Amino acid sequence: MADNDGNVTSKDFGVGIAPPTAVFPVKGAQHLDWGMQHRLAAMFDASSGNTVMLAFDHGYIMGPTSGLERLDLVIPPLAPYVNVLMGTRGAFRTCVPPTVNKPICLRATYDASVLFDDMSDGGGVAADIDNAVALDACALAVQTFIGAPGERRSLELLARTVDAGQRCGIPVLGVVAVGKDMERSEKFFLLATRLLAENGANVVKSYYCDGFERVTAACPVPIVIAGGKKLPEGEALTMAYRAIAEGAHGVDMGRNIFQADDPMVMAQAVGKVVHESYTDVRAYEFYLDNKGR
Ligand code: 5RP
Repeated sequence: MADNDGNVTSKDFGVGIAPPTAVFPVKGAQHLDWGMQHRLAAMFDASSGNTVMLAFDHGYIMGPTSGLERLDLVIPPLAPYVNVLMGTRGAFRTCVPPTVNKPICLRATYDASVLFDDMSDGGGVAADIDNAVALDACALAVQTFIGAPGERRSLELLARTVDAGQRCGIPVLGVVAVGKDMERSEKFFLLATRLLAENGANVVKSYYCDGFERVTAACPVPIVIAGGKKLPEGEALTMAYRAIAEGAHGVDMGRNIFQADDPMVMAQAVGKVVHESYTDVRAYEFYLDNKGR
């Protein structure tokens, strides 16, 4: 009701106080629109500037991967220990209660299953922008196949997803896929990560490699590392530690968390490295001290 009489008189105008000038903490995101920044701010921790994303989208090409046989039992207990959940729309709608209250990164593209074992196809749209809005996604993940026959198609999907994300304020995570016969060299990751950023990805997911500090330096948006195949827990923490020390802004880790002896403690140990500047040695001690309790 627009009352004109009896209102408390306005007087606290803060005359002489300059408006706060906060620098947006996510790399390369200073000039994005409010909705984009709001979603990125939900994904990246305000203090560390980093993120622990839990990737559990493996079923989209691999079927019931070890550790993910029952998404409904495995994912919700891990959610409190990570910043972002990354999965398929089918997984979210069937196995993750909306009350989990975590930002979600929705896999937007599908790819050939492991039965084909190639990267020639380039994939297609698995979840469009309307689905992303309906699912309240904080980001859309697009798989890309740089240096493989599917490259052109996957870059087209990246571009279209970036266009749609831009309209709705939803950032895009560009994922660098690596085929089993492809090199995992600094030269390759320099090329692939930069290429995805320049094609509009707001965050890039890559593998760790030698010379990683140059890869992160040359990429104008944050890089989060994939974990890859299961390693002994101490080695996975060392990889995370080196990646963060060399400029990564987090991890998007799957098997090295949910296939660990104690996934919940492993998720926390990874978080210690990513957010609390723990060394790999200290984080592994934390893991050993707490696992199985
Ligand atoms: C594939 C992906 C997967 O989500 C991700 O790599 C799986 O995580 P991890 O390798 O840590 O098990 O993006 O390219």
